[in-house]
Amino acid sequence: MNRAIPEEIVNEIRSRCDITDVIRAYIPIKKAGGGSWKALCPFHQEKTPSFTITEQHQRYHCFGCGKGGDIFSFIMEWERVDFPNAIHLLAAKCGVIIPEGNYSNPEEKKLAKVRANRRERLYSLNETFAKWYAELLKSQPETPVAQYLAFRNIPADIAERFQLGAAPDSWDASLQHGKKLGFSEDELLESGIILANAETNKIYDRFRNRLVFPIWNEQGRVVGFSARTIEANPQGAKYVNSPETPVFKKGNILYALPLARQEMQAKKSAIICEGQLDVIAMHRAGFTNAVAPQGTAFTDEQARILKRYTDCLFLAFDSDSAGVKATLRAFEITLPLNFELKIIKFPAGEDPDGIFKKSGKEGLAEVVNSAMDFLDFLGQVVLEKHDLNTPFGKSRAIAELIQYVRKISKPIVRELYVQRISALLSVRPETVFAELNKLNSEEKNKFNNYRPPAAPETSQPENNVTPRQNNLPQNLIHAEETLLKLALNQEEIATRLSAELPPESITDTPVGKALNELINLSLNGEWSSARIHLSELERNSQNAKLSMILSSEDKFPGDKTEKAFLECIASIRLHYLTNQKNEVMAQLRMAQTTEEKQELMKQLQALSTPTPRQN
Ligand code: CTP
Ligand code: MN
Repeated sequence: MNRAIPEEIVNEIRSRCDITDVIRAYIPIKKAGGGSWKALCPFHQEKTPSFTITEQHQRYHCFGCGKGGDIFSFIMEWERVDFPNAIHLLAAKCGVIIPEGNYSNPEEKKLAKVRANRRERLYSLNETFAKWYAELLKSQPETPVAQYLAFRNIPADIAERFQLGAAPDSWDASLQHGKKLGFSEDELLESGIILANAETNKIYDRFRNRLVFPIWNEQGRVVGFSARTIEANPQGAKYVNSPETPVFKKGNILYALPLARQEMQAKKSAIICEGQLDVIAMHRAGFTNAVAPQGTAFTDEQARILKRYTDCLFLAFDSDSAGVKATLRAFEITLPLNFELKIIKFPAGEDPDGIFKKSGKEGLAEVVNSAMDFLDFLGQVVLEKHDLNTPFGKSRAIAELIQYVRKISKPIVRELYVQRISALLSVRPETVFAELNKLNSEEKNKFNNYRPPAAPETSQPENNVTPRQNNLPQNLIHAEETLLKLALNQEEIATRLSAELPPESITDTPVGKALNELINLSLNGEWSSARIHLSELERNSQNAKLSMILSSEDKFPGDKTEKAFLECIASIRLHYLTNQKNEVMAQLRMAQTTEEKQELMKQLQALSTPTPRQN
């Protein structure tokens, strides 16, 4: 079977995965300055690190053994898989869906190539216009847009850093400029630089007499524009944005990410603002770890991108009701991803830009530095809605608080927050836990439907075993996979497993680890949220098989379940027993004294008689 994968998919994966994150998941790496990282080479024996990763080129190289490459070659080398399998593994990790299709077909291959070229044309078109708008702004200080920039107190170096520009006050200047540079009307339409009137079909420039903010993707390529009116009381929209295009998906773009990503790693946090001007104010005040979603609500995809850089988010939304709503929505998205959350509270009607204008760096720093912990903020929002003097009011307040706390994926963190809720409302922690578990089981079905992003089952690699798994018998691997599937879909199976299999009888492959964790979760009454817990393990292990199982909904027909269950248990026990026996035999060969030998013989005999259930 030819599993060639279109270039655009490969590029999409490349753009979503950062090489330091990919490699860090396998080996410890250390920052070496200048955008490079060092590690002990995983591909040969060494005592001083000569394995180097360069962020800028997204490549690694070992000066000791000479191995080097990009994310794909690293995965191929480490996982001992071929290129298509490496792509599948990375696709599952970063949530890219690989379309089904036979790309060995020359027609399809040609189409894929055309699509890749089209994207490249779009990037270059956008970059051309970003440069042109910026030049216009710089070279014509008398235009209303340039005046507006001065009115907003934005100095030239900041305008330059953010490549701010001026869209000319014209209906067709952009169209003419694009054509002159060899872009077709179709290309200009697709990019959104121009658009056609719905009735007359006449084409005209989208951005006219506006302050233009280019939007970059993670690699710093221009994918679109956001343009602000310069009028105090605008007739039209305050902001006009590029439409979505093959290179611009609003839900996975964060404004200023290429300018902020390094500082996010250095500061170990990111600040999420509402818009471009707020991000710019934050950067001016020294918070160069600030980004913003793109004129839409903060999305799960954006949160996943940020997770690659940091585990702590400062949410800096407005304090009006829309801002509070956005903050609560961001809680729901980010808590399952294990982010630590801080909330920056602004005085009513203020935003970062306004504060910076009024009280400068210090003023903004003060607000940022007094950010509240997530539960303190949530407490403020929730408690004022309920009458805490009545038991019913209090219980409703608790129910609302734990709606969020139960989404936290780390059990320890969740427990500590439950304790804080219990202290806050003077209720015993066990009672709060009981409430939390009740809610979880009530929403069982909802959780069951949760699917972590992963490549579709049909496009999973067939050959994605890790080197360690290679040494394990196929039937053991199969047994664990089957049990994981069964136990994910039936709580009763998960509970029974805890009595049937001791933890040490389960392998420490990703699937084995997941199985053990699932058993523990069901012992703790948390079976219903298992998929969410396990998706972290999935992310860390990047194991395509585990991804596939977590995404599957396989239900064995009732009568087959029991048979499969018993067979799998038997395989695992047999393997475990054999291992134990081999170990004792090895010890026996080494034994020095007769007593030792006798003792070991006894052990061997015990292992050979039919086993009592091992717990
Ligand atoms: N936005 C948008 N379309 C609008 C209004 C807003 O896309 N009609 C997006 C823009 O990305 C903007 C962000 O939402 O940056 C925040 O909007 P808003 O708070 O209204 O703008 P500010 O950035 O505060 O701009 P200003 O300070 O100039 O009012
Ligand atoms: Mn503002």
